[in-house]
Amino acid sequence: MKTDQIGKPTNRVDGRLKVTGEAKYAGEFNVPNLAYGVVVNSAIAKGKIKKIDTSKALELNGVLEVFTHENRPGYVWFDKNYKDMDAPPGSPFRPLYDNEVKFSMQPIALAVAETFELARYAASLVQVEYEAAPHDTDFEANIERAYVPEEYNSGEPPEPWGKPDEALANAAVKLEGAYTHSSQHHNPMEMHASTVVWEEDSKLTVYDKIQGVMNTHQYIIHAFSMQPEEVHVISPFVGGAFGSGLRPQYQLFLAVLAARELKRSVRITLTRQQMFSFGHRPKTAQRFSLGASKDGKLEALKQDVFAETSRFEDYSEDVVIWPGVLYNVKNAKLTHKLVGLDVYTPLDMRAPGGTTGIFALECAMDELAFKLGMDPIEFRLKNYSEKDQNEDKPFSSKELRECYRQGAEKFGWEKRNPEPRSMREGHNLIGWGMAHGAWEANQAEASAKAVLEPDGKLTVSSATADIGTGTYTVMTQIAAETLGLPLEDVIFKLGDSSLPDAPLEGGSKTVSTVGTAVKSVCNKVREKLFELAQQVADSPLTHAKFVDITFEDGQIRLKNDPFKAVSIAAALNQNQGKAIEEEVSSKPADGQSDYARYAHSATFVEVKVDEDLGTVKVTRVVSAIAGGRIINPKTARSQILGGVVWGIGVALEEDTVMDNNLGRFMNHDLDKYHIPVNADVHDVEVIFVEEHDSIVNPLGAKGLGEIGIVSVAPAIANAVFHATGKRVRELPITLDKLL
Ligand code: MOS
Repeated sequence: MKTDQIGKPTNRVDGRLKVTGEAKYAGEFNVPNLAYGVVVNSAIAKGKIKKIDTSKALELNGVLEVFTHENRPGYVWFDKNYKDMDAPPGSPFRPLYDNEVKFSMQPIALAVAETFELARYAASLVQVEYEAAPHDTDFEANIERAYVPEEYNSGEPPEPWGKPDEALANAAVKLEGAYTHSSQHHNPMEMHASTVVWEEDSKLTVYDKIQGVMNTHQYIIHAFSMQPEEVHVISPFVGGAFGSGLRPQYQLFLAVLAARELKRSVRITLTRQQMFSFGHRPKTAQRFSLGASKDGKLEALKQDVFAETSRFEDYSEDVVIWPGVLYNVKNAKLTHKLVGLDVYTPLDMRAPGGTTGIFALECAMDELAFKLGMDPIEFRLKNYSEKDQNEDKPFSSKELRECYRQGAEKFGWEKRNPEPRSMREGHNLIGWGMAHGAWEANQAEASAKAVLEPDGKLTVSSATADIGTGTYTVMTQIAAETLGLPLEDVIFKLGDSSLPDAPLEGGSKTVSTVGTAVKSVCNKVREKLFELAQQVADSPLTHAKFVDITFEDGQIRLKNDPFKAVSIAAALNQNQGKAIEEEVSSKPADGQSDYARYAHSATFVEVKVDEDLGTVKVTRVVSAIAGGRIINPKTARSQILGGVVWGIGVALEEDTVMDNNLGRFMNHDLDKYHIPVNADVHDVEVIFVEEHDSIVNPLGAKGLGEIGIVSVAPAIANAVFHATGKRVRELPITLDKLL
């Protein structure tokens, strides 16, 4: 029997630790003599701190210190130009740097005490006098002042192609639409936390919630002028992050500061309310102008995007790249401008730019198809893109047609009556809508190490993360399959800055990036084992070549003569009781960038809209995904399910409301910031269509962290139109907009 691991719906190797509570998160590492920090956040959105009085807090027995800009040590922020691994252009926010307030809920003080409760009480006693300055958080009012950033960190608009204005003027059928949504905030289950352990030799062991320990490591070294070997960052488990953990957050800085100053271990865990005090999906407004011929050929497309950013960093994301990827359009012009506001810098949030850009694009296309009297799938097939027009590159693979076909069949799309308000069930209007989407299938550089012990147990490691996506599991599968070992004999280690270098877990590229390094390092071990196998007495492999060998079931075997084999155990015996150790760095293959590399999706949705109440229920979702080779269908399905659930939130619920008078997000908790609960999620079906891709990486896997969300919100919005005949271009689609 073969031990094929790739493609098996393997349970999470860390599942047991997680459900038994043994998996430890950043705020759960207990050490003796731990002190607790609680952060004080600014009550104003802009201005100066005139006076900050910590004396009442300090009077309490058990309060160790209150840190503010006035008493923070001078050695911090030595390297003012340092930018973390996910920083956009600009000047990163530096907590407690001076008395300036740049956004509401800015951290302005840290109370540290013997217990959490005492620290929280002490924080409440800190008295602050502000000199408020006029703030401006009004996105709509500032659209006219939007600017083109000097540098885009992401989402730089491609050069216009064709003659969009002329083509638009001459188009037989036209559509104009403006699509908007407000800011949205990350709400992973685990709040951001850092436990900083003060070691006897003044070194720090830091448990941090982060999507890549190397970022935390680099950040601490630069912010505190420390040596690399003085800081050890550990982050074995992350309770979801979705982009919120790409950049080191302020609790990390403050906990390190306090630990160093007090020479004590310190923990800070942010509250759910404080999760709304840093980073969010930026509010955007998008204007589309589309032109098509009478028979439904897309002739012209213009997309103008306005997105919020802070005053100190120019955050931009991939909002305008999607028309060129998803449609064949001869003439196009795309722009992306930023609106600077007195808010914290926006932050990557699951499929940054794709979730919002594809929402608007796919709603506009649905409107256009309706105007043309075309079925939405027929319209998309008519305008199917065979190459990425942004960069004029062929796709490495693209099985989107198969997503339409299999998705539509499973959903029963052919039974759809195209007429809005034509399908009903009692007082419920039934709507069927669809949309398609894409997400980048990138690969970056990463390193991995493999140690095969004399007893046949393999440990593979890399400083990557598992933010809940299943990294532990799929890397174990890849390593086990490459060496023909049972899963139980393989351990994968991650989340430790002493391990070989790896990038942040973000951008749906971990399987592609770290998976390639794992496969590559295990291949090195294979080579070594093969050499040893040839040295075994009377080895049947003496004259074999490496390419003729396979590793299966603990055996090193001739492919075309399976009876000629040496066991891995026998080969290891030749190594004089030593382990085999290999380390590699892997990077994208030459020529990879000649291709546009994307995963694709087609999502079909049924909604039921109560005609009297305007409530929307998403009763059925079929999501068909072309994501290359699926390493683990079980964890892969979970990724897509999560994307669908979040898509429901984006379409119908999520909405951080800014009070422009106060310059403050008002609904900063899960009572008033709504996300889908079980009652909002009904029948969800995931299909993975077969797709082979030898260009994206040696595994052929495209990454699934983000493709699951992108086409869900527009499919819901399009279904709502089909149900009600009402086009809502502003997310979320709440009942007031439907009555
Ligand atoms: Mo993600 S927004 O790439 O963590």
